[in-house]
Amino acid sequence: MSDSYQPIDPLRPDLDEGTNVAQTHGAVLADNAAISRERRVRENGMEPVSLWVIVSSAFVLLVAGAVLNAGGGLFNYNEYRVNGYVQRDAPGVGDSGPATAPIMDALVKNGSKVYSTCSGCHQGDGMGDGASYPPLGGSEWVTGDTEQLAMIILSGVNGAITVNGRTWNTPGGMPAQPLRDPVQLASVMTYLRNSFGNSTGDVVTPEMAAAALEIYNEKAGGSPTPPQVTEAELKADHGKMLSGEVMDPATVVDLETFQPVEAAGAAE
Ligand code: HEC
Repeated sequence: MSDSYQPIDPLRPDLDEGTNVAQTHGAVLADNAAISRERRVRENGMEPVSLWVIVSSAFVLLVAGAVLNAGGGLFNYNEYRVNGYVQRDAPGVGDSGPATAPIMDALVKNGSKVYSTCSGCHQGDGMGDGASYPPLGGSEWVTGDTEQLAMIILSGVNGAITVNGRTWNTPGGMPAQPLRDPVQLASVMTYLRNSFGNSTGDVVTPEMAAAALEIYNEKAGGSPTPPQVTEAELKADHGKMLSGEVMDPATVVDLETFQPVEAAGAAE
């Protein structure tokens, strides 16, 4: 220090010439740093909780919850349920009611199986063998009047028969086919009429097949082996459509009963 002290900046003189600004500033900084390092003083009971305490209490709560809820005791809301209430399955779960299908699909599918009793003679493609067994594809006997077709199947046929311009007269003719179940008969008839290039687009219903069986039984008069029909007889007596309610081929039916079912969704 000298007597000839000069402020650094003469225009802004240090107000207290005895203060060492740099030193004082440094002291203030050091004090503040020390204070901020100091632990905060907390009141009793307000100290921070150890992480171990938090973790172990969470574990205890978890185990206690599982133990208390065993058997559905703790979180059981049954008392809020209406007595006897049965919760409905989510849509598409479990039983979806009776098997159903459009009647055309159902009869054709079934008929394709029944046809195995015919395919040995008329062949798998329904076109016959070109020698003894006439074709069913393109045959007017198949696509024409349903009563004629039913009588051919039930009685068998003998003698000359013209199919699509060609005359067949196979010795012994066609043996009667023992289809006595209306559903089986309706199935094979519907299948023939809509396969092998045939497409009448209609269905022979089990009701119509039952009518055919009635006609056949009446004609047979109780004989277990009634004579086969002939072409002349078919034309004279059976040139008719079988009686029975005509059904839209798209009608959805119960596959057990072949009765129409409510449209899907209507039974909600
Ligand atoms: C054992 C051989 C045999 C079997 C099995 C047989 N048919 Fe025939 N079918 C014949 C013969 C043979 C004729 C021609 C009869 C004649 O010449 O008089 C014929 C004729 C027909 C005709 C009339 C002619 C035509 O081609 O349209 C139809 C319809 C017919 N059969 C349908 C069937 C159906 C349906 C089945 C099965 C449920 C069946 N047949 C099973 C041998 C058979």
